[in-house]
Order: sequence, then structure tokens, then C-alpha cells
Amino acid sequence: IRLALIAGGTSDEREVSLRGAAGVEQALDPDKYEVVRYDPATDLAKIAADAAHIDVAFLLLHGVHGEDGTIQGFLDLLGIPYQGAGVLGSALAMDKHLAKTMYKLHGLPVAPWVMVEAGDLADTRRIVTEVGLPCVVKPVRQGSSIGMSIVREKEQLPAALRLALRHDNEVMVEAYIKGRELTAGVLGNAELTALPLIEIIPDARYEFFDYEAKYQPGASKEICPAPVSDEVRQKAQAYAMEAHRSLQLRGYSRTDMILAGDELYLLETNTIPGMTPTSLLPQAAAEAGIPFAALLDRLVALALE
Ligand code: DAL
Ligand code: MG
Repeated sequence: IRLALIAGGTSDEREVSLRGAAGVEQALDPDKYEVVRYDPATDLAKIAADAAHIDVAFLLLHGVHGEDGTIQGFLDLLGIPYQGAGVLGSALAMDKHLAKTMYKLHGLPVAPWVMVEAGDLADTRRIVTEVGLPCVVKPVRQGSSIGMSIVREKEQLPAALRLALRHDNEVMVEAYIKGRELTAGVLGNAELTALPLIEIIPDARYEFFDYEAKYQPGASKEICPAPVSDEVRQKAQAYAMEAHRSLQLRGYSRTDMILAGDELYLLETNTIPGMTPTSLLPQAAAEAGIPFAALLDRLVALALE
């Protein structure tokens, strides 16, 4: 199989992508795949020129122009199949506001939120009245917690909004739900399987599972399978599968959620979950008896289905 491994890109998660790609390239079985690397930052024209010689693309891009449907549309035009969500699913999942709107339509639980644009920065009173404190401020289309902060006092809100607005022109302010952080991977096209749950416990020096806590080896503890009751596990897995369907995804996804008491709240669904050595979906797959190389084979098979 002639496989185009597309990694790098121009988003704020470029480094995460490149770190994942190194491991993916190493794990792809050389007896099965002839791998050519492309970086959309420099190689878009090359991908187009080589399209006739590419059987499948493996997208290992995160964030804007990687996980948002744009590169997916480019590959669709070129007739190159790729793993994971298509144009619509990618676009819906990338936009946290649209994703939460879809979750709600499908009866999935989410924390209350409001949207803020650059123009209404001054309106902190409205924001605090609607979502309360503490709250979480996030750029609406970002990954890896980039540009995100937890706001505990209303005086901190303007700075948090400005930070988030550096990464996007729309910002989501969400009620902060104190609880345990869980993530649930899903594999499949028409028929879905939920992977074992993972609980993430960032080291005490981190306020939340931020960029450093995500990628600094040892900065977080990941427990798989997550030590929760069967009832919570089943509910979280059912929610992850329903989130995947509600966003019209394909192949795989990983939905992040908060467990507060026995209640779960969905945060977001990643359509190209991270694949770095500290990343979550590969750990969950391994726990389910699917080693990394077999996971990649499965994703390619699902892409070609
Ligand atoms: N956005 C990163 C890559 C993740 O959620 O895994
Ligand atoms: Mg994410």
C-alpha cells in the first residue's frame, strides 16, 4: 500500500503532529506500506502532483487546516482516501460551539457555555452572570488546551479572553465543572467499538491538563482502564459512541469528558487524536489488545472500507 503520511502543518499543534508522526512512521510495517512523508506547510502541490500514486493518506495533523475539514476536502478532490472523519464531521468537531450544539441535540450532557467575539470583550458582567465562576475560557477552534485558562475571579476574565482571542476570533466561556478527567476512544465505521476508558490525573503543579501536562513525559498520570464503576464506564463509552455519531465521524475519535459525582459532561471530541508517546488513544487501544502497529492497520483498513 502506498501511504502518504501527512504531518506537520501550520497550526499551533505542529510540534504535537511531528512528534506523533515519527512514531507512526516507525510503527508502520514496511512489508505492508511504502511510506512517503508530506508536510502541508510546504508540500501541498506535491501531494496533488503525486495523487495518482497514493493509495491512502494517513493524516496526522491537529488543529486548524488539519483537523477542521480543509485538508480532508483537498484529499476528497484529489480522490485520495484517508483515515478518520470527512469534511463535515471534522468541521463540526473542530468547532467546540457547533460540537456542543450537536451533543445537546442528541441529548448528551454538556456544561453551560456562552460565546464571545472580539467585539464584546467589555461585557464581562453578562458572561459571569450566564456561566458563573469559576469558568473556562477557550478558543473555539484549538486543540491541546492552547490559549485556554481557568478563571476564578472576574478580574481575570479580560486577560483570559484576550489570550484566547490570540488563537481564534471566537471564544467559548464554559462553566467550570470540578471533577475527574476521563477520555474515551471509539473505533469503527458503521459498527463502533468503545475502547477502555482512561482517567487523566495531571501532576499537582498543574491547574488542569494543559499543554505541558499533556506532553511533558511524567507530567500526568494516565490510568487505563480508569478506576470507575461499571455504570460510569458504560455510560461514558455510550456517550463517546453517541458523540461520534452526532458529529457524523468515521474511523475513530476520542471524546474528553469530566466526571463530577456520577454525572458526566462532554468537553470535546478529537477527530485526529494525538499519537505522541504520551498520547491517550494508543494507550487505550493497547489495553484493548490492539498494539500500535495493529491500530494503524485497522485505521487504514477503515479508511479503505
Ligand atoms: N488535540 C490533541 C492532539 C489531542 O487531543 O490528542
Ligand atoms: Mg483536543
